[in-house]
Amino acid sequence: MCGIVGYIGNRDAYPILIKGLQRLEYRGYDSTGVALQNGALTIVKRLGKVRALEEALAAQKPATATLGIGHTRWATHGRPSDLNAHPHSSNSGELVIVHNGIIENYESLKRALEQKGFVCKSQTDTEVLVNLIEHLQQRDGLSLKEAARLAFNEVVGAYAVAVIERNNPDEIVIARRGSPLVIGLGADEYFIASDASPFIEYTQQAVYLADGDLAVVSRQNAVEMRRIQSNHIVSPSVQALKLDLAHIEKGGYPHFMLKEIHEQPRSVCDTLRGRLRIDEGIIKMAGVWDHREKFENADRLLILACGTSWHAGLIAEYLFEDLARIPVEVEYASEFRYRNPIVTDGDAIIAISQSGETADTLAALELAKERGAFTFGICNVVGSSIARMTDAGAYTHAGPEIGVASTKAFTAQLAVLVLLALKMAKHRGTIDQSRYRALCTELGTLSEKMRQALHAAAQIKPISQRYKDAKNCLYLGRGYNFPVALEGALKLKEISYIHAEGYPAAEMKHGPIALIDEDMPVVVIATQTRHHDKILSNIQEIKARKGQIIAVVTAGDRAVEQLADYSIAVPAVSEELAPLLTVIPLQLLSYQIAVLRGADVDQPRNLAKSVTVE
Ligand code: G6P
Repeated sequence: MCGIVGYIGNRDAYPILIKGLQRLEYRGYDSTGVALQNGALTIVKRLGKVRALEEALAAQKPATATLGIGHTRWATHGRPSDLNAHPHSSNSGELVIVHNGIIENYESLKRALEQKGFVCKSQTDTEVLVNLIEHLQQRDGLSLKEAARLAFNEVVGAYAVAVIERNNPDEIVIARRGSPLVIGLGADEYFIASDASPFIEYTQQAVYLADGDLAVVSRQNAVEMRRIQSNHIVSPSVQALKLDLAHIEKGGYPHFMLKEIHEQPRSVCDTLRGRLRIDEGIIKMAGVWDHREKFENADRLLILACGTSWHAGLIAEYLFEDLARIPVEVEYASEFRYRNPIVTDGDAIIAISQSGETADTLAALELAKERGAFTFGICNVVGSSIARMTDAGAYTHAGPEIGVASTKAFTAQLAVLVLLALKMAKHRGTIDQSRYRALCTELGTLSEKMRQALHAAAQIKPISQRYKDAKNCLYLGRGYNFPVALEGALKLKEISYIHAEGYPAAEMKHGPIALIDEDMPVVVIATQTRHHDKILSNIQEIKARKGQIIAVVTAGDRAVEQLADYSIAVPAVSEELAPLLTVIPLQLLSYQIAVLRGADVDQPRNLAKSVTVE
């Protein structure tokens, strides 16, 4: 969480920082701030989003600066306020820092600093860090980079930071452990950011800091990188980015979320491109092929993820068990990491993460690795921490996802998981050739079916109108559609703030049925599957108690349509692929309800897209 930006070069830093912060707002938007080095240091920070900061800066009109740093915050230590907003200054005012992460031992560091006369005005862990750097600098007469390195060796926790000095207009010191950081290399200028989106219109050349690296970015056309712990110099590895500005703009849609929902037919196509050869019945996945014996001989697959990615993992459990006949466990990474889990070298671990930076997923993976398991990452963000730390992996290729509520990343994850399950099933000999070929062929038609599913938007409008003021909502599904029910409920909670629960339809009778009355909308995913009769019975049970049914049905299913108050049709599809279609109307429903309720769809309250704190 939190986004950081920095600029050093010949241009006016302010508009670059502001635009960069806007692009990083998905990482948190409790407060924003910038520090501009213009001979003096001008620090402006505000509670709220970048818009509030812009207004403050317009009133203040600071002198032009060619060096600056900025921050957009997702609060961890200290409530959102002007005071707790970054950047934070050291006591003397000589040093200024922006920080993404958590300093876990900040209280003991703070006590030690207080004994030395330092005073922290805010409640943040960050102010402690900048004062620690200052203390070491003053005590030992060190340069900023050396004092910062020593301080980083004393802190426990996660950080990506940028620090500047009042009296040094030529240098920014940056470092990372746990939280991401990248340098954009221009002709005679440098950009610093939590991800590459703030600078892609200026340069496509980038250096991703490795965990535990510190860099001095200076005007003299140089990036000097060192390991924080050992002080050894490392040579920067420059990567050519393939990011397109159009991918991070709204492209005529009112919200990123709606754009991303509508991008799904294309993004799933991109996920399958080059991997699925329908005519030959071949699935090409280099990361799997290179480690095929790990998958073939695995005693168990262990899937680690959080949030929406965890829901994709639950669907994968059905896929792998059904098609590849291999035992699967799906774990919340946050729970797994703090248990004493049994992991062996016979396990294959699959970590699923859109951002590739989720702190809990990263830590769970580290634990599994330590215990000897083979690790495979399914990430959307290229070059992300999870993608780099796993033994192998497959990118989802959904393109940048900006809306905080995940949509196209979810369906792209599902597409990768279907490919993986089919590939494993083929290698393990657990699927007959005709079923394998039929599913491959159907995968090829998926994009068109997703396009048709999107046509339901108009059908959903009256449903959104009818239920926009609901206080609660129940989502039910069975089999492959049960995790879709969880995902539908999560989408509604996240962006419209309506309390929603996802449940396996058959579990309804063990509790949730007590909630059903004429005010309870129940979304039932009732497409044609092997459980269709059972779900029809569940619908009858709800109707008998006057519940309101919104059914997601296979086009032409009169039986369900006649029972439901509202129906939303999706094209017929095999049940293994159904979640890729049935989730679409649920995404649209929560989107429309959130818009009608006047909620901030792309940046829902209290949430962040990339959760780099545990
Ligand atoms: C946050 C986001 C969710 C996401 C989850 C896991 O909570 O708001 O949309 O599903 O993190 O993120 P990951 O990047 O690991 O998929």
